Amino acid sequence: MNRIAISSFKGGTAKTSTSLHIGAALAKFHNQKVLLIDFDAQANLTTGLGFDPDAQDSMAAVLQGTKGIHDVIVPTCIPNLSLIPADTWLERVEVTGTLAGDRYSHEKLKEILNPLDFDTILIDTPPSLCWLTESALIASQYSLVCATPEFYSVKGLQRLSLFLENISQRHTLQVLGVALSFWNPRGKSNMTFLDVIETTFPKKILANKIRRDVSIAESSVFGKPVFETAPKSRAAQDYIELTKELLQRM
Ligand SMILES: Nc1ncnc2c1ncn2[C@@H]1O[C@H](COP(=O)(O)OP(=O)(O)OP(=O)(O)O)[C@@H](O)[C@H]1O
Ligand SMILES: [Mg+2]
Repeated sequence: MNRIAISSFKGGTAKTSTSLHIGAALAKFHNQKVLLIDFDAQANLTTGLGFDPDAQDSMAAVLQGTKGIHDVIVPTCIPNLSLIPADTWLERVEVTGTLAGDRYSHEKLKEILNPLDFDTILIDTPPSLCWLTESALIASQYSLVCATPEFYSVKGLQRLSLFLENISQRHTLQVLGVALSFWNPRGKSNMTFLDVIETTFPKKILANKIRRDVSIAESSVFGKPVFETAPKSRAAQDYIELTKELLQRM
């Protein structure tokens, strides 16, 4: 069972879109049984799959021990693709109830996921170095780093790299790759950005980049992945190729 945390400490680097589309591609084109976990109180992955975050229980209830893991897993519009939705409770889950006094609360998610039976679990994290992000990384064997070709995105990667390095000294975590979104194949500064990323994460840049494509934002309005709403779009093709590349790496 591959467990992958999708991370970056910066907002808007397409973490949520990448989680959703890699998960959907693995289920739809590679016959995998996939679980997506929305581990961000913004709940964009949840709404992106057409669910109302306030209508469902999230991982917060499982972490607090009031629900079992199987009670919060919901099927999605894609066969073999399941979701654990997010809600606003997630935001302060670590300072609430039983977790508040637990010195090992960061390891709780890992314990909860261990007995599950999926081919791949993808965990979408918030854009900060918070308890949720750290727990997701500890619960995973792989982290998929998301970045955009912008100065602040690339700068933030150095901090992320140190953080991942620190966790990997105590846990079995390795960087699966760096996925670039909002890619402009003709961008003037592309080589500069790629050089900085290569220095920070040697040999980790994924060859398949996700180009800017409005069909991503449009598909979230329908609550479905682009493979359903715009199967011929650039984004659909890019995510299909990126998913193949990730499978080769794992
Ligand atoms: N390749 C793309 N082309 C155009 N728009 C995109 C692309 N990828 C994502 N978007 C849009 O950009 C916005 C941010 O993407 P997304 O929510 O996936 O980022 P995020 O890193 O999860 O953000 P946050 O840090 O807030 O969680 C969304 O409106 C999404 O629809
Ligand atoms: Mg997000």
